[in-house]
Amino acid sequence: FRITLPVLSRYQVWLIPWRDYGLHDWMSEEYRHIEGKYVRLTGYPCSWTFYHHLRQEIRQEFSFHDHIREEANQYLAGLRGQRRNVTYVGIHVRRGDYVRVMHQVWKGVVADKAYLDKAMGYFRARYQEPVFVVTSNGMDWCRENIDASRGDVYFSGDGKESSPGRDFALLAHCNHTIMTIGTFGLFAAYLAGGETIYLANYTLPDSPFLQLFKPEAAFLPEWIGIDADLSPLLNGKQRQKPLNTLPLV
Ligand SMILES: *[C@@H]1O[C@H](CO)[C@@H](O)[C@H](O)[C@H]1NC(C)=O
Ligand SMILES: *[C@@H]1O[C@H](CO)[C@@H](O)[C@H](O)[C@H]1NC(C)=O
Ligand SMILES: *[C@@H]1O[C@H](CO)[C@@H](O)[C@H](O)[C@H]1NC(C)=O
Repeated sequence: FRITLPVLSRYQVWLIPWRDYGLHDWMSEEYRHIEGKYVRLTGYPCSWTFYHHLRQEIRQEFSFHDHIREEANQYLAGLRGQRRNVTYVGIHVRRGDYVRVMHQVWKGVVADKAYLDKAMGYFRARYQEPVFVVTSNGMDWCRENIDASRGDVYFSGDGKESSPGRDFALLAHCNHTIMTIGTFGLFAAYLAGGETIYLANYTLPDSPFLQLFKPEAAFLPEWIGIDADLSPLLNGKQRQKPLNTLPLV
């Protein structure tokens, strides 16, 4: 990123006697006056409720260096083919450890095939020539579950897991976003600034996740939620793979 604010080096961070201050995932009145000299904010303060009033500055600070922007735009231009009026839709499918953690720790699910079909259907109905760019830390699952038969789906990194930085830049340069869960897709969608579809209600109502996470503080009001299918949690442990076959990373 082309950050213009001062940035501490790793070495300086080490030398400072920080007082850690844990935040929950939404802005609160008590955070307006945090006392102390060397306060380090910890937790996952990713919610727009902390910074949406500074949207222009945030998007400016998190703009990309020229070589990264050029590489992303060149990649996207290469997907255009014969299309005259292309609309790029970035898809981020968060898998990896969340496949296990969402089930076991948070009584929740990750995005499934039906969710992605619906979200892509929305953009296919609304835009003349959409092109979908898929990024994920579970590319094998994506290639098996995302229908690419119409010729409008491209897997970043030739279908292997690509570099996270490169994927993030691609998503941020697309016109619109389909995210699933997680802050990687969330922040890429925020920077892309287009229409965003997210997976909604992906935990059971009594999940401890909801103590830390407020959906209304995570997703902008104008974003479009599609409810998750919670049936794998409710009826049928047999639909889940045995735990020892799930990826641990
Ligand atoms: C390009 O596509 C958008 C929707 O995808 C449509 O609103 C617009 O009219 C199209 N432009 C042309 C020149 O066809
Ligand atoms: C869509 O994204 C491309 C690539 O970033 C950009 O060149 C184009 O101007 C965008 N189109 C619209 C309508 O914003
Ligand atoms: C999610 O659940 C809440 C509470 O039951 C409901 O109001 C909302 O419509 C559901 N779906 C979305 C997309 O937010």
